[in-house]
Amino acid sequence: MAVMKSVLEAIGNTPLVDLERLARHWKLEGHILAKLDHLNPSGSKKDRIALGMIRAAERKGLLKPGQTVIEETSGNTGNGLALVCSVLGYPFIAVMSKGNSVERVRVSRAFGAKVVLVDQAPGAKPGTVSSADMDRVMAETERLTKELGAFCVGQFHNADNAIAQETTGDEMWEQSGGKINAIADFIGTGGGFAGIASAMRRHSPDVRCYVVEPENVPYYNGKTAKEGAGHRIQGGGYGREVPFLDRALVTGCVGVTDDEAMEGARLLSSIEGIFCGFSAGAHAVAARKLLQGAEKGKTVAIVICDSGLKYLSTDLYP
Ligand SMILES: Cc1ncc(COP(=O)(O)O)c(C=O)c1O
Repeated sequence: MAVMKSVLEAIGNTPLVDLERLARHWKLEGHILAKLDHLNPSGSKKDRIALGMIRAAERKGLLKPGQTVIEETSGNTGNGLALVCSVLGYPFIAVMSKGNSVERVRVSRAFGAKVVLVDQAPGAKPGTVSSADMDRVMAETERLTKELGAFCVGQFHNADNAIAQETTGDEMWEQSGGKINAIADFIGTGGGFAGIASAMRRHSPDVRCYVVEPENVPYYNGKTAKEGAGHRIQGGGYGREVPFLDRALVTGCVGVTDDEAMEGARLLSSIEGIFCGFSAGAHAVAARKLLQGAEKGKTVAIVICDSGLKYLSTDLYP
């Protein structure tokens, strides 16, 4: 590997690993292929979109040299943008809910970002982020963007989010030698699902694409979530429509409980040496459910979204 001009060149092109040990542990027929996106420089898949959205904004003339960049984030996009902005010389403000883990706040600060923490909605449980909590974060981001004349990245509406995550799907396809039958992805902005599913469909119209969601927020499954239902799978499961999620791309939905997601993450760490967060655990469990059902004997690809290092303050790894 040649010398890189900056750490930004280390974003993407992550390994794809066959989770043979986990498949044996769960007595599965078939394969789970895991894309190790927690190995990106700030510890999550969001480095891809941080770089993609900033470079696209520069090209489109939406971001001027030295202009402040701002973003509402559950933390990982904030960490990625903080890293990218530090290397490219833009001041960066991350607006986050107090329901997110403290590691993400500290990582963004370490990259030189300013972090604005927004109080959770009344009655919210610490360590969970609900739709009402997200509304508060968005309102504060909008207010600050106007006040500071900042460039708001807007990962929930910015098409360059999904475009950047097509690279994940393209890499998966190429690395597997075209041997992917299905993908399963947890929805935050939906950029991951949309990007990977679009890439898969480009390579083969037969690939099945499953949405992963918290069992108690079965939004895409067409059921009703309990009023104020929170969950612990950070980074998504907000129970709301996202612009990138073209329902024509969705084959089906898989629900995962908090306990299952935690069990999945702990097994990925202890059996496969893949130290990851809640959503990666949810992905592994969703893949298990698919291989025990509709996708028996097939190959299901998932993303390891972020590193377990981001959850050391929680009870995920006591
Ligand atoms: C840990 C984690 N997993 C999954 C997601 C969902 O990804 P996407 O926004 O691409 O739907 C996010 C998004 O913030 C995340 O931080």
